[in-house]
Amino acid sequence: MAAGAHENWSSRAAFIFAAVGSAVGLGNIWKFPYEAGEGGGGAFVLLYLIFVFGIGVPVMIAELALGRRGQLSPPNAVAKVASESGRPHAWGLIGWAGIIGAFIVLSFYSVIAGITMSYMANTLTGALANVDAAASSEHFGELASSPWALIGWSAAFSLITVFVVARGIHGGLEKAVTLLMPILFVLLAGLVVYSLTIGDASAALEFLFRPKWEDLTGDTVVQALGQAFFSLSLGLGTMLVYGSYIPRDVSIPRSAIIIAAADTGVALLAGLAIFPIVFQYGMEPAQSFGLVFNVLPVAFAQMPGGIIVGTGFFLLLVVAAVTSSISLLEPMAAFLEEKTAFTRRSAAVTAGVGAFVLGIGSALSFNAWSDVKFLKGTVLDNLDFLTNNLIMPLGGLFIAVMMGWAVKREFSRDELHSITNGQFALWRFMVRYVCPVALTLIFLAFAGVINF
Ligand code: TRP
Repeated sequence: MAAGAHENWSSRAAFIFAAVGSAVGLGNIWKFPYEAGEGGGGAFVLLYLIFVFGIGVPVMIAELALGRRGQLSPPNAVAKVASESGRPHAWGLIGWAGIIGAFIVLSFYSVIAGITMSYMANTLTGALANVDAAASSEHFGELASSPWALIGWSAAFSLITVFVVARGIHGGLEKAVTLLMPILFVLLAGLVVYSLTIGDASAALEFLFRPKWEDLTGDTVVQALGQAFFSLSLGLGTMLVYGSYIPRDVSIPRSAIIIAAADTGVALLAGLAIFPIVFQYGMEPAQSFGLVFNVLPVAFAQMPGGIIVGTGFFLLLVVAAVTSSISLLEPMAAFLEEKTAFTRRSAAVTAGVGAFVLGIGSALSFNAWSDVKFLKGTVLDNLDFLTNNLIMPLGGLFIAVMMGWAVKREFSRDELHSITNGQFALWRFMVRYVCPVALTLIFLAFAGVINF
């Protein structure tokens, strides 16, 4: 592509697919249901909805608008918009923190997604066909204790991510998401119907939607806000770089609302796919990692057509993970392509291989290095803490503050041209006051807490 030219998504739909694909990931499908379960069920769900639409959507609008205004990879886009507003270049640090944070998240995301691929393969071949609870945990234990298995599967997953990103916006990302997102929705809808039919639907509905306010703690509030942020892919440059590809005539606020609604819809559907089975087979709902990897194979082993349903479920997770991981590689790849002599292909390969190599540290945290502990725990614990608890909330906070206070008002007004003056005033009030206060609170509450 010609030097200096900046690619755009080929349509509004392509952008929405890509952004929904980024948002919907491992976070929605195993983390959301379990956190909902631990946090008072319906009470957590209600809070989560308030945070997604009250805080997540304004920050997403800010991040997308900042990206589109900047028209460059995150560090340069942010620095450019800052200097055009007469502000210091140092604002560009937001973009730097973002590409580094996304790179780190990608490194361990690939390890977990690799585990999911291994479960897909083992369900398909029948290796998990007759497991009971003990055999299933043993299977997970064996996988986790094998560095080569974890590293090998993570390599396989990383290859897919690199392959897609190397092919660029049109040939790679757009093609992948327009193919994979419909598959994901069909698989998920099929599983929900199946699960509600054969499982304990009423227990699941009650668990997810009847608020038990007495179980609600301050921790849950913080947790719900953090989950809303992670789930919407905010604060790490993903939405900055995806925003830089949005054509001028696409309404950013409308898109953000659609993305948030789809992301939330998938999280709720994932709950409806998982919990009827959990209750039907008398399983413990509150176990994060275990819920998907230890518990569900037992249910699939007992259920009629379990091999197909189980393979479909893990395929769903892999698909969701791929459309998220490409959005984690893209910020760094776009930066390398822009600032170095690398072609897009070598930029994607370099960043992808780098993330894979860093991910080895996370894979070894389950086995050979499980005793190597410093600061917050294992290598994986530290990388998770650094991104989830520090870079993400701070990134979101500074994006809100920058768009609310530092960037010229006319720039934001121009990017958000499709909304009324009243709507624009409301958005500005949110990013100037409400979001910074809420994000400062979550940041302070998260500091010092491990949560993976
Ligand atoms: N939202 C994705 C999920 O729920 C993960 C993700 C992709 C992400 N890109 C991101 C999280 C950027 C934070 C920032 O699994």
